[in-house]
Amino acid sequence: MSSQIDHLLNEDRRFAPSEDFAAAAVGTADLYHQAATDREGFWADRARELLHWQTPFTKVLDWSNPPFATWFEDGELNVAYNCLDRHVEAGNGDRVALFWEGEPGDERRVTYAELTDEVKRLANVLTELGIGRGDRVAVYLPMIPEAVAAMLAVARVGAVHSVVFGGFSADSLRARIDDAGAKLVITADGGYRKGRVSALKPAVDLALADRNGSGVQETVEHVLVVRRGGNDVDWTPGRDLWWHEVVPAASAEHEAEAFPAENPLFILYTSGTTGKPKGILHTSGGYLTQAAFTNRVVHDIHPESDVYWCTADVGWITGHTYVTYGPLANGATQVMYEGTPDTPHPGRWWELVEKYGVTILYTAPTAIRSFMKIGRQVAQQFDLSSLRLLGSVGEPINPEAWMWYRSVIGGDRAPIIDTWWQTETGAMMISALPGVTETKPGSAQVPLPGITVDVVDDAGQEVGNGNGGLLVITEPWPAMLRGIWGDPDRFVETYWDKFAEQGFYFAGDGARLDDDGDVWLLGRVDDVMNVSGHRLSTAEIESALVGNEAVAEAAVVGASDETTGQAVVAFVIIKESYLKAHSPEGLAQTLRAWVGEQIGPIARPRDVYIVGELPKTRSGKIMRRLLRDVAEGREVGDTTTLADTAVMSVISAQVK
Ligand code: WTA
Repeated sequence: MSSQIDHLLNEDRRFAPSEDFAAAAVGTADLYHQAATDREGFWADRARELLHWQTPFTKVLDWSNPPFATWFEDGELNVAYNCLDRHVEAGNGDRVALFWEGEPGDERRVTYAELTDEVKRLANVLTELGIGRGDRVAVYLPMIPEAVAAMLAVARVGAVHSVVFGGFSADSLRARIDDAGAKLVITADGGYRKGRVSALKPAVDLALADRNGSGVQETVEHVLVVRRGGNDVDWTPGRDLWWHEVVPAASAEHEAEAFPAENPLFILYTSGTTGKPKGILHTSGGYLTQAAFTNRVVHDIHPESDVYWCTADVGWITGHTYVTYGPLANGATQVMYEGTPDTPHPGRWWELVEKYGVTILYTAPTAIRSFMKIGRQVAQQFDLSSLRLLGSVGEPINPEAWMWYRSVIGGDRAPIIDTWWQTETGAMMISALPGVTETKPGSAQVPLPGITVDVVDDAGQEVGNGNGGLLVITEPWPAMLRGIWGDPDRFVETYWDKFAEQGFYFAGDGARLDDDGDVWLLGRVDDVMNVSGHRLSTAEIESALVGNEAVAEAAVVGASDETTGQAVVAFVIIKESYLKAHSPEGLAQTLRAWVGEQIGPIARPRDVYIVGELPKTRSGKIMRRLLRDVAEGREVGDTTTLADTAVMSVISAQVK
């Protein structure tokens, strides 16, 4: 970490916005001024200006019972109406909402009028299936237009969606369905990934099977299935329904009912420091306000002319806020791509940029680094001159990747915005404004207008410019999580207890302020890993590992990795009987695959080391810091607090 900090400290390149960009930019310096003068008034203005309220609000923020906030509490709106109908009513029904491209090369253009029609029909189907206000619906779909339609239809009837990333296993899906008590699952037979159909419906069947004796009450009444992969699927009559049979047959008349601003909109599960994923709860009015505002000013959306592309899957928060809600609330035109970046060829993304004339691209550093690895000639085969703004999200972007992105993809012309935020924050919190801020490679820089952050020490004292510490958010914000589904205590403990006295939200990230007061993110300070921009918990993978009959004990760390940012590295102790009967290589292989099956392929460890012992303190706590030293090939740090100080030399020898 310290060499990384030194490296960042020496970064002094600066890029001011061009005059042309600044002149046409949506976000202006005046926004900072307005927000600094009257923060709540600033957000109220944004909420009125960007959204349609069926019942206007009179209250803005209620922070009388921290950390439980409400925003715009007495206002009423319909989220889907804001993302769809009002654009059609304004005469923009023919505007393309989605330029969708399937991995095999099939395409669909979906206009705002068509998407509105589809969502209205689906909303009627949901009502017929008994889904109404407050009911939970799990969505387990590939990146197809139906995923966006499903989210919006659920929102339209006032229900709550829980989107589960299609790469998650049946077990992970089951845990999420059970935690939320979902009544309906919307899925597909399968979707295309890496040149073949990857099935989804069987995972749903598995997740819903074998409940007998488990003590878990089955809450799912129906499974709505989109035909996409064309793969054979099992069918449970009465429970399962084909989308193409019921949705087109439903009426396209549907009145969007107004719901209170604090009506829950979605639950999205994310990894924490314990084994059990947390259901992050977001509500409607504040979330949509900040989603629309940040998308507009940070992505500089000009809805009449831009073609915007956020490469995130809707299974993650970035896909929720910057594929579904932000851009559609703004009436933007976007590209949506089903597959992997390198299928059928490594230039696929750049081919799409050229084909659709993409003007704004928003992606993750891990993707940029993997393109760097294959070389600039791949991207340079395509005309990327339409790009005028580039964005980064999900993990710290190292200055080398930033510079490569700027020069190879952005033609040394397009500004880069590095946006820091989290599933919990709901929308961007720290980022440059592309027409205003002079950017610095590797720094997320400044809190957005209306957002207040600080970097503090363990006691909550400001560290001041030039120093590092913990990133906190000092005032409530409209898109903030409203809680952890079903677990208010965990919500308070996880985010608010550490700085209870000051009332700060603790983000879990380390950060440094430079001499200008700009923020440089330094990665997580807890046991959460960031692999390819995806959050994974060490505890969750450890619990999957010890769930294998061969494993006695396991410790997992995130080790730095050139391409993925961090990689999962596991240290496991194998039971005697298995050690005798199997080779260490065979066991490591089996366990990598096992984790993939238990959680999903993204959680599969890069390395599994079979060891005889784990480093523990006298109180029995595993010292992951030391294991990280080994995994990253460093000299092992201070071992004096270990119960047995010799254990690290044994482990180091075993790993070599
Ligand atoms: C990390 C993704 C540095 C951070 C939107 C945070 C970042 C976690 C950045 C949230 C960035 C996200 N620079 N680090 N621009 N953006 N992170 O919930 O550690 O999947 O806490 O939300 O990603 O990940 P999540």
